[in-house]
Amino acid sequence: MLKLWPMALAMGLGALVLWLNPAPRHHGLSPLAALGHDIFHDVALSASGRQSCATCHRAEFGHASASGIETGGPDMQAQGQRNVPSLRYVHTRSALTFDKEGKASGGFFWDGRAASLQAQAMQPFLNPLEMANPDAASVVQKLSRSTYAARFTALNGAAIWQQPELAFAAMAEALAAYQKEDPDLHRFDSKFDRVMKGRATFSDAEQRGWSLFKDKEKGNCAACHTAEAGADGLPPLFTDNSYDNLGVPRHPGLGLHQPISGHDLGLCQNRLLPADVRADSLCGAFKVPSLRNVAVRRAFFHNAAITDLREVLSFYATRDTHARLWYGKGPVFNDLPSRYRGNVNRSEAPYDRKPGERPRLSEQDTDDLLAFLQTLTDADLAASVAKPRAAVAVANAAAHADR
Ligand code: HEC
Ligand code: HEC
Repeated sequence: MLKLWPMALAMGLGALVLWLNPAPRHHGLSPLAALGHDIFHDVALSASGRQSCATCHRAEFGHASASGIETGGPDMQAQGQRNVPSLRYVHTRSALTFDKEGKASGGFFWDGRAASLQAQAMQPFLNPLEMANPDAASVVQKLSRSTYAARFTALNGAAIWQQPELAFAAMAEALAAYQKEDPDLHRFDSKFDRVMKGRATFSDAEQRGWSLFKDKEKGNCAACHTAEAGADGLPPLFTDNSYDNLGVPRHPGLGLHQPISGHDLGLCQNRLLPADVRADSLCGAFKVPSLRNVAVRRAFFHNAAITDLREVLSFYATRDTHARLWYGKGPVFNDLPSRYRGNVNRSEAPYDRKPGERPRLSEQDTDDLLAFLQTLTDADLAASVAKPRAAVAVANAAAHADR
């Protein structure tokens, strides 16, 4: 013990130095992606001088946020309006499309409004609730003063500085390249991946959870959170990148500045929707998120209304059988204007129950599903796994009724 502590102290100091002064990790990245890495971590590119992409998308939380809803703006006082998604496992996603049946899939953001990682990357710099720059030119001017500006010139030519819109697009291209190339953003080294390769085995609870996850009469989770390898040969991403309306309860702490009476309507407010799409039916639909690293998250759903993973599972089980626990005495689906409440999915398991019926998932099932979801954590994030609240589902959910 005595001999170990100086080493522990040295390791602690080493970690502190790294934390204060993170060395750029360019290992194995192309020059474009390495530039993107530096842009991603540069707080000087924000109006406040205190926020970078990495401030909200923190590596140790699976490139999502520690709290769910973040603040930003010129003085870091503006409250964000949506839960910060993880940037892991988004690298193969493409633009929003509608199939013949009118089913939406793809796109970036909870409402699919960015068609590519590059298109997405321009928005945070100018979003008044985030990095809050007035225009592209001011971002490019900040970039020109950075320590890595010479590398930007080497890649894009000196003339690009005279064309701020082009330079801004080149920055976004570098950010996209970084997110596609950084191996930490798609490690595929969770316990689940090891089990699939025959290098580890599930515990009994994990195995039961895995079965429930796929069972169409029980969890039915895989209907949307795909559990099979993709056409591209990649291991499952646990999303089909489609959209659905779960009727998630309102987040009381979220002051929304949305056009329609303070409601976030998701997909139907996406301005890129094709003209022939019936937008009304899409109000309240949000992107199906990947469940990889879900056990590391601190806030769930597009509005971060639920902050405990076991409680999310209880919501799936008891939304319809014990609605009061989630919506209190008021109307159900209380985060949607009444005319859109009919859009909520009530036909698919596990949320196809009626009041008085038995939930599709028992307490034991919920525990088993939780155990399975915890196997989806990348190896580098083991220390960040949140401790789920242990209380039984209904009692747990009751907290919502008091809000
Ligand atoms: C103030 C916090 C904040 C900052 C700073 C920020 N983001 Fe985000 N990011 C979010 C939130 C919140 C969302 C979801 C917003 C929505 O759906 O409307 C998001 C969404 C995304 C997505 C879409 C992920 C998906 O699954 O669709 C990507 C990619 C992304 N951000 C990358 C970046 C990059 C690159 C930067 C820096 C240029 C950045 N973010 C800066 C909070 C932030
Ligand atoms: C019909 C499609 C569908 C089914 C079935 C489904 N989900 Fe989801 N899931 C979604 C959508 C859509 C969201 C995002 C909803 C929102 O934010 O409004 C979501 C969100 C989640 C989240 C929150 C993740 C995050 O990062 O915020 C978890 C956890 C989750 N689902 C787990 C499950 C589990 C476990 C099951 C099975 C018991 C399941 N889901 C079944 C569509 C589905």
